[in-house]
Amino acid sequence: TSNQTFRVLVSDAMSSEGLSPLLESDQVQCVQQHVDEAEGLDSFDALLVRSGTTVTAEVMDSMPNLRIVARAGVGVDNIDIDAATKRGIVVINAPDGNTISTAEHTFAMMASLARKIPQANASLKSGEWNRKGFQGTELRGKTLGIVGFGRIGSELSKRAQSFEMSVIVYDPFLTKERANEMGVDLRGFEELLGEADVITVHTPLTKDTKGMLGHENLGKTKPGVMLLNCARGGIIDEDALAHYLETGHVAGAALDVYEEEPANENPLVAFDQVVSTPHIAASTKEAQLNVASQVSDEVLQFLQGLPALNS
Ligand code: MLT
Repeated sequence: TSNQTFRVLVSDAMSSEGLSPLLESDQVQCVQQHVDEAEGLDSFDALLVRSGTTVTAEVMDSMPNLRIVARAGVGVDNIDIDAATKRGIVVINAPDGNTISTAEHTFAMMASLARKIPQANASLKSGEWNRKGFQGTELRGKTLGIVGFGRIGSELSKRAQSFEMSVIVYDPFLTKERANEMGVDLRGFEELLGEADVITVHTPLTKDTKGMLGHENLGKTKPGVMLLNCARGGIIDEDALAHYLETGHVAGAALDVYEEEPANENPLVAFDQVVSTPHIAASTKEAQLNVASQVSDEVLQFLQGLPALNS
């Protein structure tokens, strides 16, 4: 591609400021159009996506010149990695661009859940003045159980500690030293389930984490537990969650992600005790700028034949 234009298809909406390194490069031609609508798919060398594009083997077959798929975000579960590997296509992501936004959103969800802010807001807007219906709980002194202590989980722990929560963590890859450094206590998965007042998951969706909090494991949690999922739909099994919300064993849940999205028909959204947002944890000005500029830089690096940073 040295003396040819490198064609990049930007299939999902992305920060144009973040994309500027690509938009301004004279070696690159960017087309901003969804893969289902774009023409001349066989002419593209690179495909940039968020979560709105599913990069299947068929999509890759329709793009025979494709050499790199870049995910402006963290989760690559919308990309068929095996199919990419078989075709020699490099897959990269932007692993840290939206860490803070996601940790902050998770924290906001926890506070909303504990103080029933969305419910109280909806009640007041509907014309009620109900000071009795929204008794909450303090976060201070409560135990937050974090499942998955990577970038997002660790940032969340600092925020929780500043609210005087104690933080316990389950992460098979975490060392004692790192746990000490962060002031958190390591637990086995089942120990965490039995001890935490609030449980939040921050793992990718894999065959090991799918349904990790299912019927059996949710039964091991404390009565009155609150659950948070701002990671990926399906880590907390939705049928199991609905069941335990109905019995009252789970006092409330806050969800940003769902097994199927859009989640307008999801019965969990209708529960009074569920606070839900439409997969917006990474939707801040800062995060979107970060992830788009991170993948732009990486694609340019790839184009120059340098090793990809986050593949
Ligand atoms: C991610 O994996 O980065 C988030 O889910 C945000 C997004 O889908 O853009």
